[in-house]
Amino acid sequence: MNNIDSPGHVTGKSVYLDDIPIQKGTLHAVVFSSPIAHGRIISLDIREAQLMQGIERIFTFKDIPGKNQIGGIIEDEPLLAENEVHYIGQPVALIVAIDEHTARKAIKLVNIKIEEMEPVTDPRIAKDKGLLLVPPRTFRTGDINKAWSECKYIFEGTVESGGQEHLYIETQGAYAYTLDNKSIKIHSSTQGPTAVQRTVAMVLGIPMNRVEVEVARLGGAFGGKEDQASGYASMAALAAYILKKPVKISLHRADDMRMTGKRHPYSSDFKIGLSANFKILAFKSTMFQNGGAAADLSPAIMERTLFHSTNAYFIPNTEVTVYSCKTNLPPNTAFRGFGAPQGMFVIESAIARAAAELKIPARAIQVKNFLKENDEFQYGQVAINVNISKCYREAYETYRLDKIENDIIDFNKENKLVKRGMALMPVCFGISFTKTRMNQARALVHIYHDGSIGISTAAVEMGQGVNTKLAQVASRALCVNIDRIKLETTNTTRVSNTSPTSASSGADLNGNALLKACNTLMKRLKETAAAMLECKPEMISFKDEVAFKNGHETNISWETVVETAFFNRVCLTENGHYATPVIWFDKNTEKGHPFAYHVYGTAIITVTLDCLRGTYEIDDVLVVHDFGNSMNPAIDTGQLEGAIVQGIGWMTMEEIAYNKEGKLLSNSLSTYKVPDIYSAPKVLECHALETEGPELAIMKSKAIGEPPFMYGIGAFFALQNAIKAFNPGYKIEFNAPLTPEKVLMRLYNSL
Ligand code: MOS
Repeated sequence: MNNIDSPGHVTGKSVYLDDIPIQKGTLHAVVFSSPIAHGRIISLDIREAQLMQGIERIFTFKDIPGKNQIGGIIEDEPLLAENEVHYIGQPVALIVAIDEHTARKAIKLVNIKIEEMEPVTDPRIAKDKGLLLVPPRTFRTGDINKAWSECKYIFEGTVESGGQEHLYIETQGAYAYTLDNKSIKIHSSTQGPTAVQRTVAMVLGIPMNRVEVEVARLGGAFGGKEDQASGYASMAALAAYILKKPVKISLHRADDMRMTGKRHPYSSDFKIGLSANFKILAFKSTMFQNGGAAADLSPAIMERTLFHSTNAYFIPNTEVTVYSCKTNLPPNTAFRGFGAPQGMFVIESAIARAAAELKIPARAIQVKNFLKENDEFQYGQVAINVNISKCYREAYETYRLDKIENDIIDFNKENKLVKRGMALMPVCFGISFTKTRMNQARALVHIYHDGSIGISTAAVEMGQGVNTKLAQVASRALCVNIDRIKLETTNTTRVSNTSPTSASSGADLNGNALLKACNTLMKRLKETAAAMLECKPEMISFKDEVAFKNGHETNISWETVVETAFFNRVCLTENGHYATPVIWFDKNTEKGHPFAYHVYGTAIITVTLDCLRGTYEIDDVLVVHDFGNSMNPAIDTGQLEGAIVQGIGWMTMEEIAYNKEGKLLSNSLSTYKVPDIYSAPKVLECHALETEGPELAIMKSKAIGEPPFMYGIGAFFALQNAIKAFNPGYKIEFNAPLTPEKVLMRLYNSL
């Protein structure tokens, strides 16, 4: 089934924030932000700007009626700077004018004096200075100190992974206006409507019931709007609430890139120990997460790094520590994978280092250490329905991995200046928010008395196709045609206390809540039909909008039964609530059962490298992926393909650069390269592993948003292998992204 949103998208009819018709008299807001990465504000003079014609008002922290605070996990982030600034682009004042052009002109008239302090941009330096956002955390298993003595081989190294710009097509923005009952309504481009509601309520000093957040859809998010939408929504709300006029804010691309946080860069040390037959006996890693100037979601992201630091392997003795470091960069935030890619890159690097030193293919170590049924993850959960070896074997056979490897060997023998490389990238990704309490959702279903259906949930549609999946759930549960179903906007007044649409779990959580609501409604309709047919409700079933009695078709249609139920005063509205069962986690012991299930898969990635120029092409990405029992192969394949290309981008070409003063250098699309069609793999094939799928996935269809991102990590190692084929003396380095410039230096550095 196709994505129900596609016709709207391709004809331009889908409504995004910027398409909402604005009210007459709407004002426009722009942000005056800090030009300095770290310093004390000596003075802020807005008088001249305020006098400019067309300027309605300029807000500073002094104008905030509630708390000047937008921190989601920790209250460490002001909406508008007070006495200090901590990164370039930190909002200091909000300029509100009759139009955006005027507001922008006034930026230049704001006078700020800042006593500069030394900025810190390196997480290791931050850690040495004691600048941590939260205390470090460590996951341990076995006895690491004892284990080293049992290892035949021990290797150490460092790993650097870079940031990543979300580059959602729709930038951050919000549109806010007051309602007549002392309330405020905000249209926000957010993954987390409740986070926006809560933050706005806090900033305005009013209860949450007076804040309504409305989200039609997002033009992409990728995690960038899980937390960071709240600030911009709060700004629009602040101005609208005080001025009693509608206010809109919509960031220019350059401002969005400069002011918002990105994927966290990590700098890590590892030590890996293996037995004589390449069993990984011990793995130790210390990782320094570059958190930026405020906690944002860093503590949760650090947690997922820990959970996934051994990827798809069973390692009996581990000790992994993550430091969340405070630096003078925009607060880094959620990005597809949520810390897992950074963690997986470290263990894969450790394996690659061991393989290089032992002169064996990394695959020999990877395959030997795959997680098996009933192995215990380092966080205590016992692994069940482990599909990693199955995915690997199927990839080996389906794509003839032996032949791929031999072809590459032959090719590299025959070609001097062009080399090919291959890597295997296994993935094991846990599904559920790592914070147990976030794993809940609600769905509100109305069956109108003409038989049509309206569905509201907490899920935010951001291009990932969650609305289509939800429509499928309802269609199946109510046995009606999908055309009868309308997915409503996401709105905090209809569905409250929502978790953000993230952690790949939008369809699972909201789908299960929806399923419960639909099942309850179905029960009522069966009772109505039973009364009409003078039989017991157990005898009734529905199929294709028709009631069946004891398996025999009747002349009672969906419309008739709905209409009759309505006349009989049966409630045709239901609110479903779902909380993932089974899961729990104890932060004191760092053990528990945090995930509903895991997603597995394996990718084979091959590349061709031009050894004169350092340029390369990603040839094939050949995947065996465990979708469970996919409820929508078109959407799931689309998610998989997009995630892989995004993962390859992170690993190979997307290079975020700040200078020492904390200024973003890669601040436009001419200096920041994202994958285009020419840099996408030439062949991207995916073979679905045949499995039943877990009970806890919606209709046994596994979550898809994040797991495939990490296949992209294979591109990095495939390139390393191609470099090594040309330059055998090259000592493998783990510094991503592996841009053509870096490749060129590595091709020739030890010749
Ligand atoms: Mo996603 S990175 O969990 O918003």
